[in-house]
Amino acid sequence: MNSISFVLNRTWRRITLITHVISAGAWIGIDVMVAVLVGVGWFGTDTEIRGLAYRALATFVVWPMLTSGLICLATGLVLGLGTKWGLLRYWWVAVKLGLNLLLCTLIVAVLQPGMDAVGGYGRDLAGGTANATDVSSLFFPPAVSLTTLTIATVLAVVKPWGRTRSLTRAR
Ligand code: HEM
Repeated sequence: MNSISFVLNRTWRRITLITHVISAGAWIGIDVMVAVLVGVGWFGTDTEIRGLAYRALATFVVWPMLTSGLICLATGLVLGLGTKWGLLRYWWVAVKLGLNLLLCTLIVAVLQPGMDAVGGYGRDLAGGTANATDVSSLFFPPAVSLTTLTIATVLAVVKPWGRTRSLTRAR
């Protein structure tokens, strides 16, 4: 990893860090919105509004979420490679890298493929003919993502566990 490291000057480090923190914040905000829409879909009393909530989930969530996740990943990579932190030099960065990759993979491999069914469920619900789609599993996307992003934020601020000695020595 060191072979492609470079030094970010002060201005670029600040610009990249600001973009990194904004993208992480946007990602968390989108997750909160997902939790609200899932809550309205489950517990709402008006079927038309519940149907709209599911359709909004299916239409507006995946791409903004993936975009903010990828911007967070890209700026994180630049910050890691362009500063003393490295990518695998400190546990807090290495773990955040793993968590970011895991979440982006889950968005593409698990969340996105189920969205058509959720949208169809919303349309049917609003039309008064709810189909058999299991929407109870919609608990997991916001719960898993919000928990993971909270852990990543705590790691970023606390920077625990020091250097990855074994990984560093192996290189
Ligand atoms: C998983 C989602 C992520 C979240 C929520 C997140 C959050 C944050 C936050 C809030 C900061 C500012 C901390 C501070 O200034 O005290 C930060 C800094 C940082 N992040 Fe992330 N991050 C994420 C992913 C990543 C990834 C994937 C990498 C690297 C591969 C990374 C590398 C860094 C580095 C190196 C800094 C310190 C930059 C500096 O001080 O110049 N982050 N992150």
